[in-house]
Amino acid sequence: MGPAPDQQRYRSVIGHFATGVAVITGRGPDGPVGMTANALCSLSLDPPLVLVCFDNASRTFPIVRRAGRFAINLLSHDQDELSGVFASKMGELEKFSHIPHQLVEGVPIIDGALAWLTCDLNALYPGGDHTIGVGAVIEMGEHSKREPLVWYRGRYTRLARGGTGGELAPPGADLV
Ligand SMILES: Cc1cc2nc3c(=O)[nH]c(=O)nc-3n(C[C@H](O)[C@H](O)[C@H](O)COP(=O)(O)O)c2cc1C
Repeated sequence: MGPAPDQQRYRSVIGHFATGVAVITGRGPDGPVGMTANALCSLSLDPPLVLVCFDNASRTFPIVRRAGRFAINLLSHDQDELSGVFASKMGELEKFSHIPHQLVEGVPIIDGALAWLTCDLNALYPGGDHTIGVGAVIEMGEHSKREPLVWYRGRYTRLARGGTGGELAPPGADLV
């Protein structure tokens, strides 16, 4: 076997895959918890399943695992500061102290999110220093007029607008 690939270089190369930004939330015995995540994707339509990767060192993961339920809050472009809070290691319960939210199916949905899903944790698979969680979708909602927060090459950004700074094209507009 050759030497292990360089982690910094891997982070830099894989960082060219632009993603949205989500906060995975759960509810523990002491209150709501959450962590910022971008390692997630749709897994199946029938039945609707999503895949989320949890850092084994995250404090949110054991709470989600115990409760067997979590929410995915897809963030709007103006929620970068909020994303920073949930990416931090401030007190777990402190994170939610100034974040307006509502409980849906027992898990926190953050006000102002672009879209959200509540999920039952269906299965867990090992994945290096992360654990792959499969969630079965229970409920969902969307506010499609908002724009997404985007993560690209280690920074927050937003969808590029046309050169004139016009409105975003409606979905499917490029297909006609
Ligand atoms: C843009 C971004 C994406 C992230 N994606 C993930 C992810 O997919 N999975 C994960 O476990 N941590 C991810 N993190 C790191 C966690 O948010 C971070 O470790 C956080 O402190 C975990 O909080 P907790 O310990 O309170 O659960 C990401 C951080 C950022 C800024």
